[in-house]
Amino acid sequence: MTSVNFISNEKLWSIRSGELQYILKVADDGSLVNLHFGGRVEPVESISLGGHFPFEPSLHLLREEYSTFGGLRFMEPCLKVELPGGVRDCVLKYESFKIEDNNVLSITLKDISYELFADLHYRAYPAYSIITKWAEIRNAGPQPVILEEALSGAVSLPRGGLWRLTFLSGHWAGETRIVQEVLKAGKKVLESRRGTTSHQLNPVAFFDAGDAGEEEGEVWGCLLGWSGNWKCVSEYVGHDQLRVAMGVNDFDFSWYLESGESFKTPKMILAYSASGFGGLSRSLHRFERGVVLPRNNATKPRPVIYNTWETLYFNVNEENLKQLADIAAEIGVEVFVVDDGWFKGRNDDRAGLGDWVPDPHKFPRGLGPVIEHVKSRGMIFGIWVEPEMVNPNSDLYRRHPDWVYHFPGRPRSEMRNQLILNLSRSDVREYVFNWLDRLLAENDIGFVKWDMNRSFSEPGWPDAPRGREREIWVRHVQAVYEILDEIRRRHPNVIFEGCSGGGGRVDLGAMERFDQFWTSDNTDALDRLYIQEGYTMAYCPKTMGAWVTGVPNFLTNRTLSLEFRFHSAMMGALGISVNLLELSSIEKEEARMHIEFYKKIRHIVLDGDLYRLKSPRSGGLAAFQYVTPDKTESLIFVFTLQQGFGRSEPLVRVRGLDPSLIYEVDSSGQSFSGLYLMNYGIDHGIRGDYKSKVIYLKARR
Ligand code: GLA
Repeated sequence: MTSVNFISNEKLWSIRSGELQYILKVADDGSLVNLHFGGRVEPVESISLGGHFPFEPSLHLLREEYSTFGGLRFMEPCLKVELPGGVRDCVLKYESFKIEDNNVLSITLKDISYELFADLHYRAYPAYSIITKWAEIRNAGPQPVILEEALSGAVSLPRGGLWRLTFLSGHWAGETRIVQEVLKAGKKVLESRRGTTSHQLNPVAFFDAGDAGEEEGEVWGCLLGWSGNWKCVSEYVGHDQLRVAMGVNDFDFSWYLESGESFKTPKMILAYSASGFGGLSRSLHRFERGVVLPRNNATKPRPVIYNTWETLYFNVNEENLKQLADIAAEIGVEVFVVDDGWFKGRNDDRAGLGDWVPDPHKFPRGLGPVIEHVKSRGMIFGIWVEPEMVNPNSDLYRRHPDWVYHFPGRPRSEMRNQLILNLSRSDVREYVFNWLDRLLAENDIGFVKWDMNRSFSEPGWPDAPRGREREIWVRHVQAVYEILDEIRRRHPNVIFEGCSGGGGRVDLGAMERFDQFWTSDNTDALDRLYIQEGYTMAYCPKTMGAWVTGVPNFLTNRTLSLEFRFHSAMMGALGISVNLLELSSIEKEEARMHIEFYKKIRHIVLDGDLYRLKSPRSGGLAAFQYVTPDKTESLIFVFTLQQGFGRSEPLVRVRGLDPSLIYEVDSSGQSFSGLYLMNYGIDHGIRGDYKSKVIYLKARR
């Protein structure tokens, strides 16, 4: 079916994408206006925008598609530019358009006097009710121009009423927790100025009229595919009109655009669902699995990982790795990952970053013997790296103190005792690419955990070409993307895990390069229910790394049963970091059984649809359900929180089943119809604090 239609006598484009429709029109004065962003509308010709108010730009400018700083525009601009001659006024008017493959629309706008073009691109993904959009700013004139702000785009929500914003916020060890607030007036800015996506806020904004629930009501979603400084501005621009602008943060940013050059923004992802937050999340999850994730691994299951971090920390060596690998293989682990501590001089976090050769004291014979040992036990070998970083106490830094971001003669603030390599420099970029490429070429490594453990500070690039100093915010991210893209191309069998002190760099730009993410350094299985709930608002469980670790938990001092810890971690890409040497034989057997079970059901978790049946935020009980796309299998994860006051536990009413199918519960012979399970519910039968259960439903043939 055609997604993009052009109605020529109206100068109007309609982009239909599943449940979502996006309508653009050229207004009488030549400006491009967003007529509609929301559910499907017909006939589109009837929509019009008129109106003029004292002390406001006319109504159509309030809904301008790619607003500038120029003329009578007072809202957050998508584009702010200094044109030749110091002109800081830019007004874009419609020039031309192109439709490709029925689902890609490009509309070109041009400044009224200078040869500066903005190509606005739209791509519809009808199977997921998603549209992506991005802009390309082209300088076709003879002189350079300076971009001071160049966002990916803006959307105008349906006019009228108050909007509620739902977003993901947190901190290290407490990422992606759900926050909701009603926007009443003015601007609400979500952003990162840390050089990465950030733990504090994630580039995801959902909007509803205050009436949407988990499975009902209309929800609009705006996300950004970008792993550096970003900004999302939700702003009432006048007369009940909410605009949402999103893109690379203009804070400390500028881009020198020579004649003939262009600047391409990251993608803004637009989503819409009339089935609540759950419906929106499921569309996003399907889109991520079907479109965003690196293609070579997208349809493969995620392996069960053992990671050494919470067992050995920096104290890894040939001997203890071999011992752990033996037990890991026994309990069913598929990938054995050596985390931090393996390279030269790395005994704690004060030294070694930058010197990516095996530490001669810990690995006198190199990594070879450990890799061979891991492989001989039937597992894949994985390794931790932090390519963007250097410790001042390293050979690399002693050789190249000028390779980090800094301002000459000023302090270089350290975080976790480390500094950031200036990947805007081509020599540094090449160096990083080469050692990583060599490491993967010379060793049989099938899994890489790419970490990034600090925020940017003193972002100086002393030898930058004139006028390009502030481009580092974008150039650094582009360099990380380029290195990853090329490394992936050369080593197509390697799985890449993205990490930034936990979930500090999770976004849809990173997801084009990383097969999975390390969700949080917080591995407390109860805290994880909250973090993982928020994570799944935007990101699919297939990418959600979750480990079973030791008790009491190193962060919370909480002791939860091995079963609870496994169940919590099985809701994503399962990993283990518990000290296997300390497990009793009974515990080892229990771990083995959980892993065996996970391998049987992981296709439901990783490639199924998620229903968040009951949020841990509502207290008492938390429940999450996964259903295969064909609705023949389902898993229900139930966790009791605190019991009290003689309350009886409610039945869990499931969702997403086929009402007419008969489902067998836990291979017990007991069966119920989908209708019964959805409308009456299941008695999970668990009592007590912090207990858990996984219920498996299978449709009878
Ligand atoms: C970060 C990661 C951890 C671990 C350590 C190693 O904090 O999030 O999982 O890899 O670094 O130093």
